[in-house]
Amino acid sequence: MEKEFAKPVGISLDRFIKLRQDESPGGTGEFSQMLRDIGLAARIINRELNHFGLLDIGGKIGTENIQGEEQKKMDVIANTRFIRALSDGGEICAIVSEEEDEIIEVDRDKKYIIALDPLDGSSNIDVTVSVGTIFSIFRRKSKLGTAVNEEDVLQKGSQQLAAGYVIYGSSSMLVYTTGKGVNGFTFSPSIGEFFLSHPDMKFPDDGIIYSVNESLVHEFDESVVRYLKYCKENNHTLRYTGSLVTDFHRNMLKGGIYMYPPCQKTPNGKLRLLYECNALAFLCEQAGGKASDGKQRILDLQPTDFHQRTPFYVGSAKMMTKAMSFVNSKEK
Ligand code: AHG
Ligand code: MN
Ligand code: MN
Repeated sequence: MEKEFAKPVGISLDRFIKLRQDESPGGTGEFSQMLRDIGLAARIINRELNHFGLLDIGGKIGTENIQGEEQKKMDVIANTRFIRALSDGGEICAIVSEEEDEIIEVDRDKKYIIALDPLDGSSNIDVTVSVGTIFSIFRRKSKLGTAVNEEDVLQKGSQQLAAGYVIYGSSSMLVYTTGKGVNGFTFSPSIGEFFLSHPDMKFPDDGIIYSVNESLVHEFDESVVRYLKYCKENNHTLRYTGSLVTDFHRNMLKGGIYMYPPCQKTPNGKLRLLYECNALAFLCEQAGGKASDGKQRILDLQPTDFHQRTPFYVGSAKMMTKAMSFVNSKEK
């Protein structure tokens, strides 16, 4: 018992952010404050998701986002919560969100831009499957004090300063990178804080999990179909929740590959480059994995539109190499 008491409380997210800020001399603290604001919004959304059965915030709201997708009440609530936490935090220049048609300019005297999927996998809320939030952070290119412009927002993923996700599940976690590895923090509901639980996360080099919406197989290119056949013939196992964050998180812990290939009806697949794929590609590479659109590295893609989609393959390095060898083969 005494030993139990002697144990340290652990490193809270706030403490960790502070330690990392101290590691970069000259840091002004603005970046750290922004990360703390993300942690705050995550805690608020986590609370609302936990209460949602009681609060009637499941279900549809009757509106669509710019991509013609039906918005759930929680999509709108999560969007509002994040925008408010980031705006009130005072460190953000502009926000791009899946749920907003245009860039939201917050404060032109600030330097950071954030791209956000406030609630990922929202079709899973009504059935209590894990959902998430994805974020990607850039430094603006234009001068402080001027209006934010398209070039500020349409930067390659390789320019990201930080990226991460929150997963709201049986336990909730915040996972992020600032380009020095990936660290995961588990939420303690009783204390109301995230604590470092998964330091320096690494994608297993290899794995047997493949995650894909296989009902779309008739829409995939032959080369993808051949890879799926290879998976089945080589003792792989299919795991797909329909929440990208959830599928990615599990694959990062256990080893696996996630795919949303081009489809006949949607040649760029479904997932969005700016606020879904870039962030996960950055995390994945930082954890030793790989991410591609089937032809090139996700982080090298030049965005041309805030809401553009891209085919997405992400996961364990060896599985990615194998998958790409199929996807890029000319065999017919
Ligand atoms: P969102 O809820 O933010 O719109 O994202 C849904 C995405 C992603 O989370 C998931 O992997 C994918 O849609 C599932 O798509 P399918 O239903 O076509 O498999
Ligand atoms: Mn999403
Ligand atoms: Mn979403």
